[in-house]
Amino acid sequence: MTIPLIKTDRCNLTLLQPSQALLMQAFYVENWRFLKPWEPTRGDEYYSLAGWQHILKLYNQSFELGNTLNLAALNLANNEVIAVCNFSGIVHGSVQACNLGYSIGEKYQGQGFMHELLEKAIPFVMKRYELHRVNANHMPHNERSAALLKRLGFEREGFARSYLKIDGKWEDHVLNAFIDG
Ligand SMILES: CC(C)(COP(=O)(O)OP(=O)(O)OC[C@H]1O[C@@H](n2cnc3c(N)ncnc32)[C@H](O)[C@@H]1OP(=O)(O)O)[C@@H](O)C(=O)NCCC(=O)NCCS
Repeated sequence: MTIPLIKTDRCNLTLLQPSQALLMQAFYVENWRFLKPWEPTRGDEYYSLAGWQHILKLYNQSFELGNTLNLAALNLANNEVIAVCNFSGIVHGSVQACNLGYSIGEKYQGQGFMHELLEKAIPFVMKRYELHRVNANHMPHNERSAALLKRLGFEREGFARSYLKIDGKWEDHVLNAFIDG
């Protein structure tokens, strides 16, 4: 399957190969403290080169199976990861939906990068996988994530108590969706 490449004004968004593991390791090492309150507890593999070689191999296998598309946003020189956008749990049939998760590097927050990326990535993924819906959820106090989703046209659909284990604690989440049509 052809590896997707989505170009935006300031980034190249693509599925990285195991040979590019250093880029992902650098992103998570640099941003571990910033991302910790918003993400599941990460194991050692997220901070080691061998760990990312392994994870990127799994990402590529999952992509080949059509289950997920884990995208990294590189700067235009392709030598730094600015953000990640993960489309997972791609389901077809009468559902035609997936889940979206994202994180940006601390130094790039507040500059419109994630909006720029998702504005292009969401239509691309919906078209490629013939999806009807993209789900994206956030903790109630994650105001930046809420604002981003609203700007992208997501609708708030509900509230799930004790929904995801974030930073070691089961956290409530606001449920949102972008629906085609
Ligand atoms: C959630 C997250 C991706 C939002 O990032 P973000 O940079 O706030 O999102 P956007 O790309 O939409 O940028 C919006 C900001 O850029 C500013 N901006 C600057 N130039 C801009 C431009 N050209 N276009 C749009 N916005 C621009 C906006 O004013 C806004 O900043 P403000 O809120 O300080 O006013 C980020 O906070 C993050 O990764 N957090 C940690 C992990 C996390 O929470 N992940 C999501 C879990 S649900």
